[in-house]
Amino acid sequence: MAATGSPEHRQVVRYAFYKLDPAWRRLPPERQAAGKVEFAETIERFHGRLLLRPYGLVGIRGDCDVLLWQVAEDLDALVELQTALNRTDLGAYLSIPYSYLAMTRRSIYEFSQDPVRDQRLVIRPSAAKYLFVYPFIKTRSWYALPKTERQRMMDEHVRVGRKYPTIRLNTTYSYGLDDQEFVVAFEGDQPAEFLDLVMELRESEASAYTLRDTPTFTCVQMGLWELLDTLGGAGASRAEPRRPVRDDGFTPVATLAELPAGASKRVYAANDAVALFNVGGTVYAIANRCTHARASLSDGAVDPGRCAVTCPWHAGVFSLETGQVLSGPPVLPVPTYRVKLEGGAILIAPAATAEAREPTVAR
Ligand code: FES
Repeated sequence: MAATGSPEHRQVVRYAFYKLDPAWRRLPPERQAAGKVEFAETIERFHGRLLLRPYGLVGIRGDCDVLLWQVAEDLDALVELQTALNRTDLGAYLSIPYSYLAMTRRSIYEFSQDPVRDQRLVIRPSAAKYLFVYPFIKTRSWYALPKTERQRMMDEHVRVGRKYPTIRLNTTYSYGLDDQEFVVAFEGDQPAEFLDLVMELRESEASAYTLRDTPTFTCVQMGLWELLDTLGGAGASRAEPRRPVRDDGFTPVATLAELPAGASKRVYAANDAVALFNVGGTVYAIANRCTHARASLSDGAVDPGRCAVTCPWHAGVFSLETGQVLSGPPVLPVPTYRVKLEGGAILIAPAATAEAREPTVAR
């Protein structure tokens, strides 16, 4: 018998929903802040190993607070990330009420004019503010229908979906891997549009063959540090040593030993997260939060030739010298900071308030 497996490249995908034990909010503020730093830095260490998008559900659902949408090339990366998170202090207070495992693959149905058919094997999250996620199971009678019948009903389904072009669908497959058959995740900026789409799909013929499509999660995309602050407790900046602003407006934030050539680092100054970069011995400082969808720029890739950083989420490029956007999707620049080196110390000040620009070369 001929092999039916496909050699196509696929990714593994996990939607892990976490719930915080309220007992964590009664811990001392210093421990809360240090716990957030440890948790976020643990996730940041996996950057490059897997793609991770943080989403918040605080204020939306009662049974979970956080979604970490994880995309990896193999299951080992998912296991190692969760193991590392379990070892953190904050991780000891997080339960996982829902976790859905799936993989990318091509649909067995043919859809004309599908411009992204070949891209469906690779998850590329957009900048959309919201993610709507649910596990999905079809009835067994669906699978007993001739394929041409199913294709006809799927065509109707797709026709309805195309009436809502701002809603983007990520379908992943769970057959044999997890309890559901699919996990569907829709990205969009307007919850009302998604509501209208789902209502209209209920009237489609294929809807009669849905066995289960709950629970449904409405999730808000946000930066990791911002997400952790939705949990309550002390902000992560509290874990940083108190750094007084000097009379000249500069604040010592790090040492050159902590930022060797080629390195980047997130620090805090007056409760603002700042990304430091050492590019060939010259230190630059810009606001850490991307102006597009709030990714952490200290995790971005630096291009020394352009003196620029590429945002790790959607590849927006910012000049490290001016903070200006060199290529989209971001539109707004990021604030820059003046940098002063004194001995082995790195000092920064907001560009507008420092007295004078000082040499920053760390040779
Ligand atoms: S968050 Fe989208 S480009 Fe930075």
